[in-house]
Amino acid sequence: MTVPSQANAAQQSFPGATVADLKSGMALYEANCGLCHKLHAPADFEVNAWHNIVPDMVQKVNQNQMKLNENDERLILMYVTTMR
Ligand code: HEC
Repeated sequence: MTVPSQANAAQQSFPGATVADLKSGMALYEANCGLCHKLHAPADFEVNAWHNIVPDMVQKVNQNQMKLNENDERLILMYVTTMR
């Protein structure tokens, strides 16, 4: 699913992004972002919208228990904005 060309695309916004980062972002997204609603497809929102949505939603994930740190947030944002 994640291939080197997608890592290249991610590097434009996230310097140093790797295929492993995108895979981690996908795993974090799938594990945490479909708990309250169904998973949204990355293509459902514009890049700018994701930049607003992901920090808000990470706060929701963390509301009862700290589960996602800043780096996790970065990986999720990298995944949804690259795969759309
Ligand atoms: C604790 C519950 C909860 C979790 C966990 C959660 N969400 Fe949400 N999400 C909501 C609610 C409630 C809404 C609708 C109202 C709102 O936007 O606050 C929503 C709306 C959305 C929307 C639609 C926004 C729009 O403008 O239409 C997206 C996209 C989204 N969530 C992504 C995510 C992502 C990404 C994660 C993981 C980081 C996540 N959600 C985790 C509760 C949650």
